[in-house]
Amino acid sequence: MKKPLLEVKNLTVKRGDKTVLRNFNLSLGWGEKLVLAGANGVGKTTFAETVLGFLPFEGEIFFSGKPIRDKKDFRNLRKKVGYVFQNPDDQLFMPTVRGELSFGPENLGLPPGAIGERVERVARKLGIKRLLDKSVFELSYGQKRLVSIACVLTMEPQLLILDEPTNGLDRENWERVANFLKKTEKAVLVITHDRELINYLRWKVIYLSEINFVSSLNLQFG
Ligand SMILES: Nc1ncnc2c1ncn2[C@@H]1O[C@H](COP(=O)(O)OP(=O)(O)O)[C@@H](O)[C@H]1O
Ligand SMILES: [Mg+2]
Repeated sequence: MKKPLLEVKNLTVKRGDKTVLRNFNLSLGWGEKLVLAGANGVGKTTFAETVLGFLPFEGEIFFSGKPIRDKKDFRNLRKKVGYVFQNPDDQLFMPTVRGELSFGPENLGLPPGAIGERVERVARKLGIKRLLDKSVFELSYGQKRLVSIACVLTMEPQLLILDEPTNGLDRENWERVANFLKKTEKAVLVITHDRELINYLRWKVIYLSEINFVSSLNLQFG
C-alpha cells in the first residue's frame, strides 16, 4: 500500500511554556482532502507552522514516507507543500501581482517561458488575470487572499495547506475560494472554522480541541 503523503505522529509543540499540541496524530493520503477545525487558539496555525518547519517539535513528521527532521528536509518539503498564510499580508512582499506569482517558480529555477505560462494559467483559474499588473498595495483584502493562494499554486505543490482561507472575504471572493477548493485535484488541508465552507466542501473533518483545558482540570483536582 502506498504510504500517506503527510503523516504526523505524536506531535508535541510548545509555545513559550504552554504546550499547544500534545501527541497529535494526522495522516493525509495522496490527493486526499481534509478540514482541520477547532476553536480559536487550539493550535491549528501552530500545527501548520510546525509541519512547514517553522517551530521546534517532538514527535515524527513524514512526507511521502520520508522522515522530515533537519533544516534541509524542511527546505525540500517547503518546495512540495504550499502554505497559504492566515494573513495574506504576511505572505505578499513583491511590488506587483505578477512578480508575486512568479517568485516561487523563479526560485525553483524554471525558464522564463514556463514561468509566464504557469502564472497565466493559475491567474485564469482563480479569476485574477486582470490583477496581474497591479501593485499588491492596490488590492482589497479578498484580492490579496486570492493572490496569496495563486502564488502558492504556481509552485505546483503536491499538498496545499490553507490557513483560514475564507476569513474576512466578501461573497464574490468567498465563492471563488470555495469553488477552487471544491474542484482542485490536489491533496489539501484546509484549516478553518467557517461552518458554511465545511458544509459546502463535505470533506472529512478533524477537530482539534484545547488540550490545556484538560490539564488545568487535572491541576484543580490533582
Ligand atoms: N507567536 C506565538 N508566541 C507564543 N505563543 C503563541 C504564538 N502564536 C500562538 N501562540 C499560542 O499558541 C496557542 C495556539 O495558537 P494558534 O496555533 O494560533 O491557534 P489557532 O490557529 O487554532 O487559532 C494559543 O494559545 C496562542 O496563544
Ligand atoms: Mg490560526
